[in-house]
Amino acid sequence: MEPAARKPGFLRNVLLRLLLFGVLIVIVRFAYVITLADESCTLGDFCFSPSPNLAMARTRSHALDALGGAATALERYASKDWINGVRFYSSVFQDLIAGGFLSPTAKSLCVETPTGRDVLALRVIGITNAVGISKKASPPLVKSGEALRIPFANGTFDFVFAGDGALERSPNAGQFAAEIARTLKPEGFAAFHVKANDTYSFNSFVDLFKFCCNVVKINDVLGFDSSMPHIKELIVKKERYGIDSDSYSNSKGKCSVPDYMKKLVRNAESLIEEEPLKPWITLKRNVKNIRYLTSMIDISFKDRYVYVDVGARSYGSSIGSWFRKQYPKQNKTFHVYAIEADKTFHQEYGLKKGVTLLPYAAWVRNESLVFEINRGPGEKVQGKGRGMGRIQPLQSSGGFDGGEVEKINGFDFAVWLKNTVSKNDFVVVKMDVEGTEFYLIPRLFETGAICLVDEIFLECHYNRWQRCCPGQRSPKYEKTYDQCLQLFTSLRQSGVLVHQWF
Ligand SMILES: *[C@@H]1O[C@H](CO)[C@@H](O)[C@H](O)[C@H]1NC(C)=O
Ligand SMILES: *[C@@H]1O[C@H](CO)[C@@H](O)[C@H](O)[C@H]1NC(C)=O
Ligand SMILES: *[C@@H]1O[C@H](CO)[C@@H](O)[C@H](O)[C@H]1NC(C)=O
Ligand SMILES: *[C@@H]1O[C@H](CO)[C@@H](O)[C@H](O)[C@H]1NC(C)=O
Repeated sequence: MEPAARKPGFLRNVLLRLLLFGVLIVIVRFAYVITLADESCTLGDFCFSPSPNLAMARTRSHALDALGGAATALERYASKDWINGVRFYSSVFQDLIAGGFLSPTAKSLCVETPTGRDVLALRVIGITNAVGISKKASPPLVKSGEALRIPFANGTFDFVFAGDGALERSPNAGQFAAEIARTLKPEGFAAFHVKANDTYSFNSFVDLFKFCCNVVKINDVLGFDSSMPHIKELIVKKERYGIDSDSYSNSKGKCSVPDYMKKLVRNAESLIEEEPLKPWITLKRNVKNIRYLTSMIDISFKDRYVYVDVGARSYGSSIGSWFRKQYPKQNKTFHVYAIEADKTFHQEYGLKKGVTLLPYAAWVRNESLVFEINRGPGEKVQGKGRGMGRIQPLQSSGGFDGGEVEKINGFDFAVWLKNTVSKNDFVVVKMDVEGTEFYLIPRLFETGAICLVDEIFLECHYNRWQRCCPGQRSPKYEKTYDQCLQLFTSLRQSGVLVHQWF
């Protein structure tokens, strides 16, 4: 019994010694790196005093800090994760040096680095003028500061690194990019590690940095842990500053849809070619077949995320029940514009956060309109069946036979869209406008506003078979199913990802 009991004890002893030895090495290396930083660091408020005595004292106090914090920090510094991370980043940065993107004298910043493994890696390979920022400081490698408000002056750094998917996790990639561009010196480089690897996301990355920088290198890197097994490394160079990224997208007239978008559109669910005999079932079920854009591509590198519900009706009718719950949003917060002219629905919108109500009708120009109150056969005015019906310019009113009508303001939807969103925003539109789509869609093309829309859910109104009365078509709409199909097909052929809505 004795030897068997002693053996594990002996093993434990050896392991403990090994561990302590490892920890000692880490501390020595740590102290070395910190001391080195003291000698050459020039990073303003991060750096230690130039006076040798003070510097010595500070070094000592920092070394003590390092030892004092050791109790908690040791566990981290000796962990496999930490060591693998430092090793990984060392090799990444050595490659960047070899590529000419990073020099040993570069003033360097790592953003959103809670542990500072990348900062230590920089210092270990001899880039001593390196510091990290993170929400929570972790001295001596990481000081407190957020990527969206980098606590350094304009033009401070030769090199900025944002690893571990920091850019794509950011709630505001545009601001993130702007802060990095601001703190980079002219001709400085920034490197990003991201997960996203599709063409759409790459192009939005390029657009995000268009105002300052060019992408100079793309690299595939094998990650060091399971959170990011495959890493895209993107390197940009600051070559200009302050070019308005909107200036090219808000120009009047035509725009062209890029080829990668056309390819994505070909991967979407197919359109329903045959006119459905029971459209109220077939079209509703079709929602399950929808291949959402956000299930095919990564939308991380966008400025803002916007959902426009044209013909929104009540909050619950599609914003609450579908968009909030079912549309795959990749954890992004979308701002919602609800366009609804029928005042019955307006009150509830006042209480909704992140929703802007436009109490007008989407139209092709600013003018007064009349609309009919929609009622299903036999339904009461205020009931569920109520919704905005067909609209007509005021001048030609009287076209609605006998029904109840109201006067409303129409606005130029396409122009509004161009004034409200930019090419760098991710824009989803749902449109249910009782036949007005046959005016609004052509207007979106004519103005080029269609290029601002990433994905559109469109209900096309035609003389559909009616649920109430078998064998009878709806008398309300003149268009046929074929004309609707043509509208969908031409949208898709132009590279617009349109889905059939119900
Ligand atoms: C720093 O850059 C920003 C963004 O370009 C600019 O608005 C600001 O005025 C600059 N600050 C200084 C002190 O130059
Ligand atoms: C992107 O990466 C994922 C896994 O990370 C992979 O499944 C997919 O095929 C990759 N796509 C491209 C276009 O490389
Ligand atoms: C969204 O966030 C949750 C929790 O933060 C995470 O588990 C999930 O993977 C994220 N989803 C996406 C698509 O990023
Ligand atoms: C239409 O109305 C909007 C909002 O009131 C306004 O900004 C725009 O200038 C108007 N357009 C025209 C052509 O009058």
